[in-house]
Amino acid sequence: TERYAVFGNPIGHSKSPTIHTMFARETGQPLTYEAILAPVDAFEASFKEFAANNGRGANVTVPFKEQAFLLCDELSEQAKLAGAVNTLSVLADGKIRGDNTDGVGLVADLQRNLGCLVGLDVLLVGAGGAARGCILPLLQSGIAKLTIVNRTQTKAESLAELFWGYGTVEALPINHTGKSYDVIINSTSSSLSGDVPNISINTITPQTVCYDMMYSKQPTAFNLWAAAQGASQTIDGLGMLVGQAAESFNIWRKAKPLVEPVLTQLRAEL
Ligand code: ATR
Repeated sequence: TERYAVFGNPIGHSKSPTIHTMFARETGQPLTYEAILAPVDAFEASFKEFAANNGRGANVTVPFKEQAFLLCDELSEQAKLAGAVNTLSVLADGKIRGDNTDGVGLVADLQRNLGCLVGLDVLLVGAGGAARGCILPLLQSGIAKLTIVNRTQTKAESLAELFWGYGTVEALPINHTGKSYDVIINSTSSSLSGDVPNISINTITPQTVCYDMMYSKQPTAFNLWAAAQGASQTIDGLGMLVGQAAESFNIWRKAKPLVEPVLTQLRAEL
């Protein structure tokens, strides 16, 4: 059978095998999907061995997304701009193609929750890999403007510059007070340590939707804070996780699985 896998280190807690196994069952696709722990210094060898043994595609997670980017023979526009690859495909001629579906997964989850994003004023907090990966899909979703802020402001400015040709995007100081937003997306890892980035409470109105790319059984630190400031809705990143997986599955199998039943099961298992 055709093999698929997720590569990472560590990989034990990855939900990708559960997600893709459900997708395969639901769409009637004959495939297997496993988790592979690659040695930190041998990702490329590990993936190539997999590809030589019926491996048709793989997801890539921490810390290998940049190494995956480097080993590809061809890259999607989104992967090029993200500078990172989370989806590898072994093509019929043996060449390796890289995509990045994280941003598409985020946008799909925002649309699932909010409907159309056209005209929205969006604040993106953070300027690391997670932020960079979602900028192009956000700009292509029809939002009016993307503002990027980051603890280290120069990194927000560099990112805004990188995407200047792709839509309306600017960088501001993280603690600016003069402006509120329709949607605020936290791409920082701050919730992992129980911290909240120091954006102003003025950025949130009773109409503002807040989205944390992190997820956990209990509300994340950022979403707790946002709810306390009166945000209209807070959403965590579990739907983004399932959304990026659905997009990867569609790239490999040309079949669009349903997100909702998988999300319900994962939520119950948190
Ligand atoms: P990732 O791939 O998850 O984005 P990263 O590239 O290391 O990881 O980026 C981490 C991001 O979270 C950065 O924007 C970082 O801010 P700095 O650029 O100033 O380091 C941000 N970050 C991490 N911890 C944070 C905290 N406690 N408060 C605010 N921002 C934080």
